[in-house]
Amino acid sequence: MPAAGPPLGMLAELTHRCPLQCPYCSNPVELMKANRELNTENWLRVFAEAADLGILQVHLSGGEPTLRRDLEEIVACLSARSVYTNLITAGVNLTEARIAALSEAGLDHVQLSIQGADAEVTEKIGKYKDGFAKKLKTARLVRDAGLPLTLNAPIHRHNIHQMRQFIDLALKLDADRLEIANVQYYGWAYLNRSALMPDLADVERQVEIVEAARTDLKGVLNIDFVTPDYYADYPKPCMGGWAEDAFVIIPDGTVLPCHAAQTIPTLTFDNVTETPLAEIWQSSPALEAYRGYDWMTEPCRSCPRKELDHGGCRCQAYAVTGDAAQTDPACILSPHHDKLRHVAEAAVAAGEDSFTYRRI
Ligand code: SF4
Ligand code: FES
Repeated sequence: MPAAGPPLGMLAELTHRCPLQCPYCSNPVELMKANRELNTENWLRVFAEAADLGILQVHLSGGEPTLRRDLEEIVACLSARSVYTNLITAGVNLTEARIAALSEAGLDHVQLSIQGADAEVTEKIGKYKDGFAKKLKTARLVRDAGLPLTLNAPIHRHNIHQMRQFIDLALKLDADRLEIANVQYYGWAYLNRSALMPDLADVERQVEIVEAARTDLKGVLNIDFVTPDYYADYPKPCMGGWAEDAFVIIPDGTVLPCHAAQTIPTLTFDNVTETPLAEIWQSSPALEAYRGYDWMTEPCRSCPRKELDHGGCRCQAYAVTGDAAQTDPACILSPHHDKLRHVAEAAVAAGEDSFTYRRI
């Protein structure tokens, strides 16, 4: 296999700690305590190695990354190397002074998650009192500081009916972008699938509303949207292809090709405390496992769409078929495609209404 080209993006999960308890969290069900997190010195070394490797943008995520007191130092280190920084935050603990300090350190962009388009839904999902008001305040402070703002709305059965309100809220808060992020069913979301899965009629209404808004608001608000896998005909190019141009580092320094890769039990991962990042990028067994096209089985192997979607998501293929090298069952050409739709229908029919909230 030829050497991998340089990565462009990196998602750094600085901590699993978070004041919110969202039941769809993409962190693993077994959350890491603070004592396993990389210290400041190690993170700064890793970010310097990432810049040497050619990384252009880093998404600083968690958990809640602002719980790290060294966040300004991290942002300054990346900014000094001209790496674009995006802070992914729940926005419930950011003061005006902290936003100013992060901006001063060189922060380029803020992505604010929002659990509902009103206080009731936001607080029900995040289990955080006054969360909605705090998020609105954060959004205003971010814009007042002159930083670009994306609102990220994870969508499921309990807020899929709020699509228009989310769009209005993004306009009211002067956001540059709204991400309608249909929940992916791994980790906590997999545990809560029966309580989160929307039904087909709601998804169809969602698609109509979003498509119309995208046309009406062209040039005013960018709306990112992908049809949820469980009701799609073709898969998304998960991570833009496995270890193609991006990777994830979790709080203890383990490097993953995507945030859910640890759900595939056959993979072996490397850690930045033991191996240089450049070596991990080139030859870590987990990153090599599904890089390129050689690993593909039929129908992907001979499919003309394989360079578009890279066969979809390996983690979903494993979760549904037990084999990560299978075609993502979101694809209509997969022999397991019906299974995915049946799983969705069964989850909706179960009508579960209580959540297992994430807790650390
Ligand atoms: Fe994509 Fe594979 Fe489906 Fe072709 S068969 S559309 S490559 S997932
Ligand atoms: Fe792992 Fe899609 S989440 S490849």
